[in-house]
Amino acid sequence: ATFIGADAQLAADISTQLEAVERRLYEVTAQTRKLPDTTSKHLLAAGGKRARPNLLLLTARLGEADREEIIDAAVAVELIHLASLYHDDVMDDAPVRRGAPAAHEVWGNSVAILTGDLLFSKASGVTAKLGPEAVTVQAETFERLVLGQLNEFAGPPEDSDAIDHYIQVLADKTGSLIATSAQFGVMFSLADQALAEPVRVFGERVGIAFQLADDIIDLTAASSVSGKTPGTDLREGVPTLPVLYVRAAAADGDKAAAEVVELLDADLTTDEALESARAALAAHPVTVRARDEATRWAEDAKAALAPVPEGLVKESLFAFADSVVSRTA
Ligand code: FPP
Ligand code: MG
Ligand code: MG
Repeated sequence: ATFIGADAQLAADISTQLEAVERRLYEVTAQTRKLPDTTSKHLLAAGGKRARPNLLLLTARLGEADREEIIDAAVAVELIHLASLYHDDVMDDAPVRRGAPAAHEVWGNSVAILTGDLLFSKASGVTAKLGPEAVTVQAETFERLVLGQLNEFAGPPEDSDAIDHYIQVLADKTGSLIATSAQFGVMFSLADQALAEPVRVFGERVGIAFQLADDIIDLTAASSVSGKTPGTDLREGVPTLPVLYVRAAAADGDKAAAEVVELLDADLTTDEALESARAALAAHPVTVRARDEATRWAEDAKAALAPVPEGLVKESLFAFADSVVSRTA
């Protein structure tokens, strides 16, 4: 599947490269022993949108798109993403991912965590071949990924705004790797390096929009569409944007919001209680406001592309930003 709809030829060229990325992903994750071989390929085989490779291959079209390093860079970012999902599903106690049982559900937490580590080590090996600058960028990206996740747990510092904190968490845990994907495309295609920063900013903002859309999908999409279990964030007490909005509205005296908060603060371990809270929050106007905020970040992302020359690549990046918000899975 490709996000790139702006031009049929461009989409076809990128699809061909995505197939090469896919083959490399299977090669790199292969293990001689059966257990690590199976667990490493579990989420890869379950599907996924390959959003980061798509974006990287697209920004690479700003330069010489057929360089071998571009495929390796796309493999590296997808491996890091995959690794983080194994760990994330343990931390979120998420039962389903990409329509398949999460790895920890099948093999237990230890195997799931170790598989994430294994994929991360593979990503490091691929990136090492791309040179020290790529390794440095990857190290910084990985630090942000982990800190975003840690800060999500830690919650906002005293006297800071909960919504600003949350947006920073999204920029770190999701925006950072998408920003790096966009940057790598410019770096390894030897495009005009003045474009590296604008596409990075684009990627970071698209990442925020992507994760805000994800929060809404958790509330509104059926499992058959999203491949995940609805309400997982609520059950785990993740303060997503709709939750933060509804709490702020309740604190401001909005009665309907206060009723939703009461459902959210109930014991959500039973399916019925979780479903009531999920449905009430999804029906409250804060969910529409959260979607508007996602749209605003996608628009800000497009604005960052002002230095990128007009043309098919830019049009496709615009389409990419829009698709991130309108997606249902
Ligand atoms: C998904 O968020 C999670 C991330 C975007 C990144 C999480 C980062 C880590 C787990 C650190 C990785 C560490 C190693 C060593 C690999 P989400 O839970 O909001 O989204 P979801 O709905 O897709 O689960
Ligand atoms: Mg999760
Ligand atoms: Mg998480």
